[in-house]
Amino acid sequence: MISSPFDPNSPLAASITTLLFVTLIIGGIVFLIVLGPTLYSYIRFRARPGDDTEPYQNLGNTRLEITWTVTPAILLALLFGLTLMTMHRSDPPIPDNPQPDLIITGHQWWWEVLYPNSGVVTANEIHIPTGKQLLVQVDSADVIHDFWVPQLGRKVDATPGYTTHMWLQADKPGTYLGTCNEYCGTQHAWMRIRVIAESPTDFAAWEQSQTQIPAIPTTGDAATGAQLFQDLTCTKCHSIDGTAASAGIGPDLTHLGSRETLAAGVLDNTPENLATWLANPQAVKPGVHMPNLKLQPDEVNTLVTYLESLQ
Ligand code: CUA
Repeated sequence: MISSPFDPNSPLAASITTLLFVTLIIGGIVFLIVLGPTLYSYIRFRARPGDDTEPYQNLGNTRLEITWTVTPAILLALLFGLTLMTMHRSDPPIPDNPQPDLIITGHQWWWEVLYPNSGVVTANEIHIPTGKQLLVQVDSADVIHDFWVPQLGRKVDATPGYTTHMWLQADKPGTYLGTCNEYCGTQHAWMRIRVIAESPTDFAAWEQSQTQIPAIPTTGDAATGAQLFQDLTCTKCHSIDGTAASAGIGPDLTHLGSRETLAAGVLDNTPENLATWLANPQAVKPGVHMPNLKLQPDEVNTLVTYLESLQ
């Protein structure tokens, strides 16, 4: 699926696209005006066989020089003005005491997503209601990352120790892809963002479902997996609401089963892929901070059954 900046889906992104088109058109016209006479001159005035007279030496043309100085100055002033307008439209002022709708934190190499109003925490997949301009707080837990979903808004750096804000909006329901845009280490390329825009009703239903604490399974493989999760070192990094696991180092897994992808977009979220991941995360995403726990196949299977049950 392609997420093109040429197909904006919010007024914020549309303002950037408009500036891009205007700049491309102006640049294209200048290119043709320069290239046309140059090509014409190459052909029309090229040296011909037997023609050994020196060409006419032109020592300057004041009118021409004023023209090619003033015209670019006017064009640059125009682009400067349009850029200022675009900066204002794509990045409206942030209130003095910002109350963010979303807090997004970059980690090596995944995105933590917190909804401060409901307390919902998820990872890499950002559900938003359509038609609403959302205030997003962007932080980093380690190094500089950069958040950008081209169809929905501007890009912004996630800087450790420094909180930034931006606006995000989607006009129509859909899935909008983005990625980290600042090189942040080995797996920079696999720090994907999926914004899932839904009607306000669907979003409210999703948010409500995410506030539910999943029941701890008591029978079968899922129960064995749940116990194994607590006994292994999983709880040192991950949290699952309603259990003793409450560490905030790796992604929150409370509703892992309801997500579309694993490992910040590397794999589709299927039981087979989750098994591949658990068997050796380093083989799937080399350098990832999740270690290879050297799990036995039956341990992998029970953990997969448990984790996929976490809807
Ligand atoms: Cu995070 Cu690049």
